[in-house]
Amino acid sequence: MNHSIAILLLVPAAAWAQPANSPPDPDAAAGGGAAFRPYCTPCHGVRGEGGRGPDLTRGVYATGDKDADLFRTIANGVPGTEMPGFAADLRDEDITRIVAFLRSIARHEVAGIPGDRAKGEKLFWEKGGCGACHVVGVRGGRMGPDLTRIGPQRSLQYLRDAVLAPSKDILPGYATITVIRRDGTKLVGVERGYDNFSAQLMDVAGNYYSFLKSEVRSAARETRSLMTDQYGRLFTPAEIDDLLAYLVSLRGAEAAR
Ligand code: HEC
Ligand code: HEC
Repeated sequence: MNHSIAILLLVPAAAWAQPANSPPDPDAAAGGGAAFRPYCTPCHGVRGEGGRGPDLTRGVYATGDKDADLFRTIANGVPGTEMPGFAADLRDEDITRIVAFLRSIARHEVAGIPGDRAKGEKLFWEKGGCGACHVVGVRGGRMGPDLTRIGPQRSLQYLRDAVLAPSKDILPGYATITVIRRDGTKLVGVERGYDNFSAQLMDVAGNYYSFLKSEVRSAARETRSLMTDQYGRLFTPAEIDDLLAYLVSLRGAEAAR
């Protein structure tokens, strides 16, 4: 009996994983897939293809590419974003299996985005008027969400839908509030607060309003986006690709400018 082989076989799998990435382990990946489904699919899609959370099949990750980086991201989340930490819900073994699952679904062919980023940037600030409602870096309006780091936050398909069919998925806190005052004048803006007694909103000019429902004729909250659903008509398909190339490129660097 060759003792050195027996000893090698006893070395726990974790020891192998330390310096490099673990070799694909089909059993662990299957177990990881089972854990992935209930916890991760709501944001990352059934096959990890992304949704409100980024596409996890590209095989490259903004938070680091080593197994240990993925483990840390899943355990601790990404602070300040919608990515929660799972250290309290999942055992370390389950997280390790999920890492194996992510390795098994990685395609490693980072499909290039067909559009032209520079053209997209121009369309964003000029033809699209997107900057009226969105901040990128230090520029833009505050009614819509800040897009400074939108690239790593969402999948490409989600961004496409966000531009072409904005009401498909409304971000929490971005419903539309419509208030009709006693004198008949109407105000429309994004929700900044809404309960049984009061409504707060911000209009496109960035003005903040707060009303008691008892002092206005009506106040309503709708889960539709304040963003027009007409961008598919305004832009050609090539322009939409340019715009998406620009959005995907936004990784926070502009914040420093
Ligand atoms: C509530 C939505 C949500 C859930 C649930 C969620 N994530 Fe995320 N996840 C995100 C978002 C949003 C990001 C992007 C964070 C950022 O802005 O950098 C992210 C980022 C990540 C990243 C880093 C990607 C990169 O490129 O750096 C990994 C890995 C990841 N999630 C794995 C998981 C796993 C595994 C689960 C389930 C155990 C999970 N996530 C559950 C929303 C979610
Ligand atoms: C009138 C204001 C307004 C304009 C103009 C506008 N948006 Fe928006 N946008 C919003 C609001 C409000 C939301 C949040 C509600 C929702 O989910 O649609 C949003 C959401 C988004 C999101 C999703 C953000 C996220 O975190 O998931 C993207 C991407 C986006 N807009 C891109 C654009 C682009 C590109 C343009 C120009 C072609 C544009 N917007 C023009 C108001 C606007």
